[in-house]
Amino acid sequence: MRLSLFALPFFLTACAQEASVAPKDAPLAADATAAANAGADDADCNLSTPLVPGIPGSPGHLVQSTRNPNGDSELSVLMRQFVDDLREVRTLVEAKQPVKKLWPVHRKMRCAWPTKPEERNAGFDGRAQGYLAAVRAFDEAPSQSSYNGMIAGCISCHSVSCGGPLEFIGGMKWE
Ligand code: HEC
Repeated sequence: MRLSLFALPFFLTACAQEASVAPKDAPLAADATAAANAGADDADCNLSTPLVPGIPGSPGHLVQSTRNPNGDSELSVLMRQFVDDLREVRTLVEAKQPVKKLWPVHRKMRCAWPTKPEERNAGFDGRAQGYLAAVRAFDEAPSQSSYNGMIAGCISCHSVSCGGPLEFIGGMKWE
């Protein structure tokens, strides 16, 4: 499962391109859902949660990686977990098998170190909440459509803040 992503050239997945089809921090439909979800049980992991210096994936302590010569941030490692998780749940939904809940792990994106700490800002956090609302919807009712809702959340954020993996993520849509 991991292999295919690891085999991808780094430039396809890295945030090399500051992509933008959407202007920075443009309001998204997802933000409304995010606002409706505010106050959910995420008090221990939100935009104001202080990040712990020195942990693996923090600045100066990037995680060794064969793919990225610079090492990976905590958020990059989590993103690759997202890719693996989505592949896994899709296979299970296709096979009509029960799936694990994704929200308990994916919600950590709001309090994980990105490569550039300044990118963890209100715009990012709003888009993260939009994505996480789609994750909750999937957890509640796993289906092709709720799976594609999560992919739409990935794309909404990546089209603003990290364009490199967009094509790769597009390929994860369940047509
Ligand atoms: C709220 C914004 C946001 C959402 C939602 C989001 N991402 Fe990301 N993603 C980022 C940012 C920012 C980075 C760069 C992380 C870094 O460099 O520290 C990233 C990095 C990545 C990477 C590159 C990881 C690497 O190897 O460096 C992949 C692949 C990726 N995301 C896939 C996904 C997928 C698939 C989803 C949905 C399941 C998703 N992302 C949802 C913001 C987001």
